[in-house]
Amino acid sequence: MKKRKIIDLPKPTLELLARCAAVLKPPPALTLSEWADRYRVLSAESSAEPGRWHTDKAPYQREIMDAIGDPHIRKVVIMSAAQIGKTDAFILNPLGYYMDYAPAPILVMQPTLDMGQTFSKDRLAPMIRDTPELRDKIDVKSRYSGNTIMKKNFPGGHITIVGANSATGLASRPIKVLLADEVDRYPASAGTEGDPLSLAQKRQTTFWDKKTVIVSTPVIKGQSRIETEFNQSTREEWNVPCPECGEYQPLVWANVVFDKDDPQGEVLYKCERCGVVNGEYKWKQASKRGRFVPENPGAEARGFHLNTLASTFCSWKEIVQKFLVAKEQLDQGNPEGMKVWVNTELGETWEEQGEQVEDAALLNRRELYDADVPEGVLVLTAGVDVQDDRFEVEVVGWGIGKESWGIRYQKIYGDMLKEQVWQDLDNFLLGGFKKKDGTVLHIMSACMAQRSKGRCRQERHGRREERRRHRRRCGQAGRVHGRDQVHGQEAVKEEKEHEYGFGKKDLFHPAGLPDRR
Ligand SMILES: Nc1ncnc2c1ncn2[C@@H]1O[C@H](COP(=O)(O)OP(=O)(O)OP(=O)(O)O)[C@@H](O)[C@H]1O
Ligand SMILES: [Mg+2]
Ligand SMILES: [Zn+2]
Repeated sequence: MKKRKIIDLPKPTLELLARCAAVLKPPPALTLSEWADRYRVLSAESSAEPGRWHTDKAPYQREIMDAIGDPHIRKVVIMSAAQIGKTDAFILNPLGYYMDYAPAPILVMQPTLDMGQTFSKDRLAPMIRDTPELRDKIDVKSRYSGNTIMKKNFPGGHITIVGANSATGLASRPIKVLLADEVDRYPASAGTEGDPLSLAQKRQTTFWDKKTVIVSTPVIKGQSRIETEFNQSTREEWNVPCPECGEYQPLVWANVVFDKDDPQGEVLYKCERCGVVNGEYKWKQASKRGRFVPENPGAEARGFHLNTLASTFCSWKEIVQKFLVAKEQLDQGNPEGMKVWVNTELGETWEEQGEQVEDAALLNRRELYDADVPEGVLVLTAGVDVQDDRFEVEVVGWGIGKESWGIRYQKIYGDMLKEQVWQDLDNFLLGGFKKKDGTVLHIMSACMAQRSKGRCRQERHGRREERRRHRRRCGQAGRVHGRDQVHGQEAVKEEKEHEYGFGKKDLFHPAGLPDRR
């Protein structure tokens, strides 16, 4: 059937009406990550791969972005390692989404005024320039638009950028959306006005549907804003299925396997459940099916934690190399490198030495044993340190929940080149330790720190048979975990000594470092 023309309008008028209809048409319903995938363009100034945004490149960003875009969620907290896309995915994408989809008055807070300016010039302005959906919304040309570096007006709202060190920007108009970046770098007080984060949040009180996004790499335990916020949230950890058995698990540093003597070697990861070790590629492929698992699902605020093991922008080898440098500095008494590593790679706070257990408190926690071995001990292990003229052996008892007791610290002196001292060591390791009821426990496994490789190793080669005998008699050697003097400090390095049958190559694990699980 032929269409009947109702009114005969001139062509330009028809085109105008068509354009009006297109503008008035409601936008398609998109989540924040869908918005980013459809419209966001990465700028050359700040991205190694400028061009279209792809959330698939960093799958862990999706759920977080969608929580930010969800109008039913009031607060989203992200505590994470550095360089995982915090500013791009959780500050800039929401800005674009709000400008384009849900206009509102928005406040972006950076640690300082200078950092606010840099953020505006280097990150926000290029995003607006390169993302066609945003370009027309902000008038950067007219001097009557009221737009400045720290303030951008758009239809239905504005973006105000402030530094947490300056109270000036904090004391004006109400805001609905607060995007606070790197909060652990904020000063305690904005000028003399008080906590900058609280000041900013006060400005949201008139909005029932306000939104607060708090993002940071954590810094020092006890002074960390982001950790406090995260602890009160749902505490969601990124879980990845094992490429072998499919078990979902968080990627934790304790299960990273590497050869400390070969920083260029392959870095592997051991499954928590099946124990199968796989390379980075397989785990990162599996990460595409990853999901966040909450520890505290009842909390109102959504909180997410991410370490760099999940990051698609950084290789495990780099993480291990940085760790080895930091560890060397730590062994020389300088903790600064390790502090940065824990913050920026694990995305966890660093506990300052001075805040750890006081001497007196430690002393008061001593227990008197009623036998060589207290009742709770189930297994004995020994760590042997090789010095030029002696072995220093520490025997440790282990109970349920990895509770540990110091049982004996024995120095065995002798000439390392002579047979006698090795015989004495064997005799000591093969000896028994009594419990109160007369039961005798033997050392189940022992490890030996590998010192001055050249010399000691040659000497020990000749002794390998004896070590094997020892193993047969004492049971299969296992890995000795690092442990604390009183459930706490001074981690013992986990080293595998091949004469004692601890594996093919020496593996080093950073025992004693925080293990978020
Ligand atoms: N989904 C993505 N696709 C492509 N590139 C991305 C993606 N997410 C982040 N990036 C890029 O990763 C780099 C780091 O991002 P960003 O600066 O947002 O990280 P950050 O966690 O805020 O870092 P910092 O801890 O240094 O502040 C940037 O170059 C950014 O463009
Ligand atoms: Mg950032
Ligand atoms: Zn597995």
